[in-house]
Amino acid sequence: MRDTIKFVRNGKIQELENVDPTHTLLNYLRYDAGDTGTKEGCAEGDCGACTVLVGELVGDEILYSAVNSCIQFLPMLDGKEIVTVEDIANDPSKPHPVQSAMVEANATQCGFCTPGFVMSLVAERHGANRADVSGLNDVLAGNLCRCTGYGTILDAAQKAAANEEADILDAREDQTVDLLKSLVAEDMLAVDTEGYKFYAPTTEAELEDLLSQHPTATILAGATDVGLWVTKQHRDLPIIIYLGKIESLQELSVSDDSLTIGAGVTYSDAHSTLTEYDADLGELVRRIASTQIRNSGTIGGNIANGSPIGDMPPALIALGATLVLGSREGERSLPLEDFFIEYGKQDRRPDEYVKRIILPSKEADQSFATYKISKRFDQDISAVCAAFSVIIEDGTVQNARICYGGMAGTPARAGGAEKTLIGQEWTLQTVGEAMAEMANDYTPLTDMRASDDYRMQVAQNLLMKFFIESTDAKAKTRILGEEAANA
Ligand SMILES: Cc1cc2nc3c(=O)[nH]c(=O)nc-3n(C[C@H](O)[C@H](O)[C@H](O)COP(=O)(O)OP(=O)(O)OC[C@H]3O[C@@H](n4cnc5c(N)ncnc54)[C@H](O)[C@@H]3O)c2cc1C
Ligand code: FES
Ligand code: FES
Repeated sequence: MRDTIKFVRNGKIQELENVDPTHTLLNYLRYDAGDTGTKEGCAEGDCGACTVLVGELVGDEILYSAVNSCIQFLPMLDGKEIVTVEDIANDPSKPHPVQSAMVEANATQCGFCTPGFVMSLVAERHGANRADVSGLNDVLAGNLCRCTGYGTILDAAQKAAANEEADILDAREDQTVDLLKSLVAEDMLAVDTEGYKFYAPTTEAELEDLLSQHPTATILAGATDVGLWVTKQHRDLPIIIYLGKIESLQELSVSDDSLTIGAGVTYSDAHSTLTEYDADLGELVRRIASTQIRNSGTIGGNIANGSPIGDMPPALIALGATLVLGSREGERSLPLEDFFIEYGKQDRRPDEYVKRIILPSKEADQSFATYKISKRFDQDISAVCAAFSVIIEDGTVQNARICYGGMAGTPARAGGAEKTLIGQEWTLQTVGEAMAEMANDYTPLTDMRASDDYRMQVAQNLLMKFFIESTDAKAKTRILGEEAANA
């Protein structure tokens, strides 16, 4: 076992000892490394001022992602490259092409947000897919500016995207790849600093042993929830077990009859596969948080946190997903909906972890849709998230699975509405009856996101919307993608 954290920065390996396991990357950069270009706006993943690049070795190449350094714990960076706004200029007299574009477009005023915008755009230049115009809106949706206004920032983004000039990351790519390869450690990272422990197992067997030895440990995936427990709630996490180094949890595979999603797969990695499975599922993922959060956050974490307003569970439940849990005792499978017992309580033993999610392939006569209702289009938590899946044969509903987030203490199916529909004709009248039945299925809460009445009304209306969309292909009931970005 190894207790030194090693990562690459500026073409050199950095080694850190005696690190507090929940020390954030942002605090390390600002307070330990003295690099204050990366800013702290919110410390909760919302504003993007703290955006940095994380480079990971994929085969012989480096995959760069923008992440929120305020909610990444330093040991999560072990074996990776870190790039900050201080690191991107070729030399002090020549700014990075993205920085030049920001200057030329007058895209900065007080400058507080600027390093974050710059790093999001640098990440995009090095990402797998170069963005089109609406894509740039998505790239920057996790960066807030309170004074310049987004028009000039988007001008700068387009200017930067058109400039193919190589930068310092390109120039030293071979060197960085060699350094990252030298860090592919064979032994497990196990930090113990003043009794605070951080384990990074590399196999499921190591994970299972650790969980059986430390049943009170906090399991950590992308830290987009757990990071806030530390930065906002100041919670003490004495033992952390990090999943990010277990390759088998990254499985994303499609067979004739199913789609398998490993618990460690991030939203960004799953996006194109989920879009191919169903366009609505892809659009749902695009609506989750921001690029930075989607680059770190996992689908497994979205399920395991048990939140009644997580966006993935309603859609996955409506599609009939199976959840597979792992432990030293072996695997245990259950319908995803059974995992959510009540608010704050899930069907997971302390020695178990979420291992993978299996979605059955859609049937030919299956219609599916999912809708997220939130106050803002981007970077917002749902007030209500709805998912509908129906199988209609000869005009009659053979099967209906309806699930909502935000309507109960857990993601929950609308059992009464489903019964009202099954065996009946798929008509306005039966849909109206099912909408009425929802008043018996749910007793929603009033909170800062929505009132109980609003939630009920929107939940009912979304079923009507689904009916209209499924019966009239020409009905225009929503705006998507570029239209939404330009609306
Ligand atoms: C700014 C911001 C915006 C957000 N927007 C959205 C949004 O739009 N929609 C939405 O649904 N969520 C949103 N979230 C919440 C969060 O991003 C998601 O819930 C995410 O999927 C959590 O995944 P993670 O990998 O970061 O989990 P972590 O934070 O690492 O863990 C979350 C929880 O799951 C547990 N856990 C993680 N993986 C496993 C596993 N394999 N087995 C057992 N337990 C596990 C952890 O112990 C913890 O309890 C947002 C968060 C932030 C900070
Ligand atoms: S400081 Fe706001 S996202 Fe990190
Ligand atoms: S330039 Fe001031 S916050 Fe963006």
